[in-house]
Amino acid sequence: MSHELFEAARDAMARCHAPYSKFPVGAAIRGDDGRIHAGANIEIASYPEGWCAETTAIGHMIMAGGSRILEVAVIAEKMVACTPCGGCRQRLAEFADADVKVHLCDMQGVVKTVTIGELLPYAFESAALK
Ligand code: THU
Repeated sequence: MSHELFEAARDAMARCHAPYSKFPVGAAIRGDDGRIHAGANIEIASYPEGWCAETTAIGHMIMAGGSRILEVAVIAEKMVACTPCGGCRQRLAEFADADVKVHLCDMQGVVKTVTIGELLPYAFESAALK
């Protein structure tokens, strides 16, 4: 994984709004045009309505005109190798092929690399709606 992707996730984490969980998370996506899109978790007082770092990053990619995810990095300050939640696995799978790598990091760099397919086997996919 490029150091740039790791740094983007780590720097995004510093911009989290997580006053309730105090569990900062950052995510970075490399899109199919090579650009990197990052995001952090954003919590609100109505707890279930907050959202994850991966979701913020996906929103940034789509708004920047990107369409496919080629690589992902996730970092959480208080956890080594934080994995995306179930909802984010489904959101990532919408824009990423099953073999796309998801790098799970700590503050130094990548700890473990998994694929979207490993995170979400038997995914419900858009083909079902055609
Ligand atoms: N969170 C993420 O942003 N991404 C993950 O992969 C796991 C969990 C956030 C959601 C919430 O703001 C906080 O971590 C605690 O659950």
